[in-house]
Amino acid sequence: MSSQIDHLLNETRRFAPSAEFAANAVATADLYADAVEDREAFWAAQARELHWHTPFTEILDWTNPPFARWFADGELNVAYNCLDRHVEAGNGERIALLWEGEPGDERRITYAELTDEVKRTANVLKELGIGAGDRVAIYLPMIPEAIAAMLAVARIGAIHSVIFGGFSADSLRSRIDDAGAKLVITADGGYRKGRVSPLKPAVDQALGDRGEGPQETVEHVLVVRRTDNEVTWREGRDLWWHEVVPAASAEHEALPFPAENPLFILYTSGTTGKPKGILHTSGGYLTQAAFTNRVVHDIHPESDVFWCTADIGWITGHSYVTYGPLANGATQVLYEGTPDSPHPGRWWELVEKYGVTILYTAPTAIRSFMKLGREIPQRFDLSSLRLLGSVGEPINPEAWMWYRSIIGGEKTPIVDTWWQTETGAIMVSALPGVTETKPGSAQVPLPGIAVDVVDDAGNHVGNGNGGLLVITKPWPSMLRGIWGDPERFVETYWEKFQDRGFYFAGDGARLDDDGDVWFLGRVDDVMNVSGHRLSTTEIESALVGNEAVAEAAVVGASDEMTGQAVVAFCVLKESFLKSHDVEGIVDILRRWVGEQIGPIARPRDVYIVTELPKTRSGKIMRRLLRDVAEGREVGDTTTLADTMVMSTIQSKVTKK
Ligand code: WTA
Repeated sequence: MSSQIDHLLNETRRFAPSAEFAANAVATADLYADAVEDREAFWAAQARELHWHTPFTEILDWTNPPFARWFADGELNVAYNCLDRHVEAGNGERIALLWEGEPGDERRITYAELTDEVKRTANVLKELGIGAGDRVAIYLPMIPEAIAAMLAVARIGAIHSVIFGGFSADSLRSRIDDAGAKLVITADGGYRKGRVSPLKPAVDQALGDRGEGPQETVEHVLVVRRTDNEVTWREGRDLWWHEVVPAASAEHEALPFPAENPLFILYTSGTTGKPKGILHTSGGYLTQAAFTNRVVHDIHPESDVFWCTADIGWITGHSYVTYGPLANGATQVLYEGTPDSPHPGRWWELVEKYGVTILYTAPTAIRSFMKLGREIPQRFDLSSLRLLGSVGEPINPEAWMWYRSIIGGEKTPIVDTWWQTETGAIMVSALPGVTETKPGSAQVPLPGIAVDVVDDAGNHVGNGNGGLLVITKPWPSMLRGIWGDPERFVETYWEKFQDRGFYFAGDGARLDDDGDVWFLGRVDDVMNVSGHRLSTTEIESALVGNEAVAEAAVVGASDEMTGQAVVAFCVLKESFLKSHDVEGIVDILRRWVGEQIGPIARPRDVYIVTELPKTRSGKIMRRLLRDVAEGREVGDTTTLADTMVMSTIQSKVTKK
């Protein structure tokens, strides 16, 4: 981390927004002053941009920390805010979704059409016995029905749990079980890299007997037909979307629900083997998702074409594909496939075709485009772009500069936005028409947001120093808990700085001489691979679940392309070694992790070792393994029980 700090210290380039951009920007500098003057009144004003069936009179209730309640006596309907109100305001003919499938098929869906689809789907859900508070699992590709499904669940006050289509049947099952979902909405498959990637079979497997009997809470599976691959069918349980949704009534009144009604659960990796179901509620979440999309992405709904490339399986897809842009009545691009299919210029072709004005994507994507070369984007007309955003991991200054000059034509502001599944919406970012940006820094907390960088004791580190990022005051879109596990919620985020009442984010950060924030990556056992959060423990437990493995240690090693990469060290069982040929075991274990968790978790490297480095108390010293994995001189080994272990491991790794 120290070499990274030194590197960043030398970054002195500054980019002010053009006068033209600043003059037309949604956000102006006075937002900061307004928020300072009265933080709660500031958020109340943002909340009033939404439609409230019953206006709130309370703003923040923080009498029982860390359990916050925002706008708690108000009532609203989240889907009404994203759909009906735009139609009622005369914007029904505005395009909501410019959808493009990977094979090149397209659909343009207006706000009126999307509202109609959501109303019908809401009626179908009702007929299937789904009511307020029930959980619905969504396992879909990036197709318009995915958005419609989320909004239909929200419309009836139920709770969705979207599960990324790249997760395996096992991951799907544990998430469905944890939430006790009554319904799964899926598709036969989706298109990825020119092929059909089946989804329904994984749902069938997930609901079947995985060793502890069949899944018990799911009553129905609603299936969108997308790829026409053959699927098995369970009569009475399975229903085709195209049969039931169009046949349902298009009359559906959006009823009001309390502001604190749960909206969704989204599972994310923590530092233990079990994913956490992060719980978000309605009024505060929608307020901050919509506000940040307006001011950070500078949304002008009548003229912009917004494109956030995230999958709805991640929080970025929730807040900046579904809820933020639709609450603001924006027009957006929705793309089903991968960036390189059928050709490596696919994204830039879409930017040109749809005249995208604002692009929001991840550093890992930018770095992979950099590697392919500027010739590819330069074949397309990208002049419609006027603002670029980055999210998911620290963006290195080189990638930032490339993004600005090659994609942004040397003119677009870049907003590097820091936030988390837990924060629900952007927390730290430049305001594009206000801030003079610095390549590599996320810079300042948004108006109404209070963060600090502190030492282990919770003391402000001061400019020029590094420490831990904390959030010092409750914010509207903050997580309300971990589904079914309030203790873990308190323990994970609030215990560390209990006496101060700070939220501990798990990120290292540094304040520069201007007091701007530079993020330095996670400080816990969470890895960030291509902007996806993975837990070292979760992968370790998958590895030891294999019959060959006695012990496993996983570390995140820095990787030029993906930010971090999964590197595993495994000790094999004696009994296994005696009875098996270990030829090919490395590939078997890599594949095994892919099957257990999902392809994103597949280790880049697996090293078979005879022992793991441990302290005398038996704690695995991952720091040393990280040194080896990154090809560095191994650090201090004096606390190791057996100092020989590291040299044996190192010889293994270098031999490869
Ligand atoms: C990292 C994604 C640096 C960080 C929205 C955080 C970032 C984790 C940035 C959350 C950024 C996200 N600069 N680091 N702009 N954005 N991160 O929950 O480590 O998938 O804690 O939410 O990603 O990942 P999550």
